[in-house]
Amino acid sequence: MSELYSKAETLELRRRHIGPSCKVFFAKDPIKIVRAQGQYMYDENGEKYLDCINNVAHVGHSHPDVIKAAVKQMELLNTNSRFLHDNLVQYAKRLTATLPEKLSICYFVNSGSEANDLALRLARQYRGHQDVITLDHAYHGHVSSLIDISPYKFNQLGKEGKKEFVHVAPSPDIYRGKYREDHPDPASAYADDVKKIIEDAEKNGRKIAAFIAESMQSCGGQIIPPAGYFQKVAEYVHKAGGIFIADEVQVGFGRVGKHFWGFQLQGKDFVPDIVTMGKPIGNGHPMSCVVTTREIAEAFGASGLEYFNTFGGNPVSCAIGLAVLDVIEKEDLQGNAIRVGNYLTELLNKQKEKHPLIGDVRGIGLFVGVDLVKDQQKRTPATAEAQHIIYKLKEQRILLSADGPHRNILKFKPPMCFTMEDAKLVVDQIDELLTALEEATGARTGNGRSSTAQHKRKMTNEGNSQSDCISESINHINGTACRQKNGFYTDNRAVPCKRIRT
Ligand SMILES: Cc1ncc(COP(=O)(O)O)c(C=O)c1O
Repeated sequence: MSELYSKAETLELRRRHIGPSCKVFFAKDPIKIVRAQGQYMYDENGEKYLDCINNVAHVGHSHPDVIKAAVKQMELLNTNSRFLHDNLVQYAKRLTATLPEKLSICYFVNSGSEANDLALRLARQYRGHQDVITLDHAYHGHVSSLIDISPYKFNQLGKEGKKEFVHVAPSPDIYRGKYREDHPDPASAYADDVKKIIEDAEKNGRKIAAFIAESMQSCGGQIIPPAGYFQKVAEYVHKAGGIFIADEVQVGFGRVGKHFWGFQLQGKDFVPDIVTMGKPIGNGHPMSCVVTTREIAEAFGASGLEYFNTFGGNPVSCAIGLAVLDVIEKEDLQGNAIRVGNYLTELLNKQKEKHPLIGDVRGIGLFVGVDLVKDQQKRTPATAEAQHIIYKLKEQRILLSADGPHRNILKFKPPMCFTMEDAKLVVDQIDELLTALEEATGARTGNGRSSTAQHKRKMTNEGNSQSDCISESINHINGTACRQKNGFYTDNRAVPCKRIRT
């Protein structure tokens, strides 16, 4: 593989020409990736990295079927959707067939942000309401309208960050949230908080346009909402004249294994009014989609404004989208997500028994989080330890990220072709690193584990036992945040912790 520039030159040119807020992964020693295949990425020296984080390369990096479909259509035609083309309607038909019947109308766009921005427009047009309820720690995209509804971002701006029309509901996190696994009905308790938010907003003369949530919070810390929560929230939001937007940008397209969409974990009786899609939809090709009901689409059309999108739904993107759907089916990637996801969760749960640093393991399919804690009783986030682990794993050629409000959650969302061997390899490495950390800090194995942390959790109607956003995770591990001291990668924004050698 010939490079145009050496790694050092690439870095220098990047410093010179790319906006400084666009961070790189592992800023102290960034990785230059020159090719990728399946669940592996290769650097300029041919070193192979196991990719545990790229949910965009959903069916595997550089999948030949996806490439063939793109090239074939590119050679023939690419143009906008004002011309009739079979790919557009064929793709809309196939995509909507994966969803409940009432979700039948598609708007094809180009990124997750564009999808969520359009979803907000649809919601606001529907009844003329303006206000949005969002979950704490949520991230929904980088455009202005979405920074406004992303506490993950606007909280960094201080008090002025939150706009008047935005209402933040607690994240339905039953491990470290307001209502925990020992609560008799956390779904109702969290939904009642949303009801209260609506009542208070209405008392102040405000009107709710939408409640937006990821079907499982990713940047927010791999949170799986308790079953029944969405149904109750939808009931309250509908009563207020608002609509329910399910953001599936991170978690859609079969990642949860048993279902094609994350929101389906809540049960058959829950159907959102809008579903937004992105990342995995094109296996790396920039495309995305908003799917909604005919009623909402007609209300949007009633404004008289034409909706035109230069690139959205072009024949090449639709050919790629179709190829991705075919591969998911042909290679039984949902089945793989169940099998490998269960195995990974099982291995991690065994580690939980062994390591006091693991407070919680939660996951469905190939969406898994490991919550690291310094203290089992207090559930104090082990932020520096999580950063240390991901840096050390990188040295072992394994790419994992740490996220969540405290950046202490090890986050798995690998390409869907991830194997049992991959799962075993990464868990064995984590085991070694945790052992070394615990020995260095004097934390005794198996000590101090609280009985509540041993809980059996009921997360979803059919969930396993369990207890990004690459671009988003990187600010957690950028050069100013992480420095290597005595072999221990620490984070200068983290709660102070004992410095150790490993
Ligand atoms: C849940 C969620 N929604 C939306 C987006 C925005 O997607 P994009 O970066 O493609 O604009 C992201 C990106 O990380 C995301 O994680």
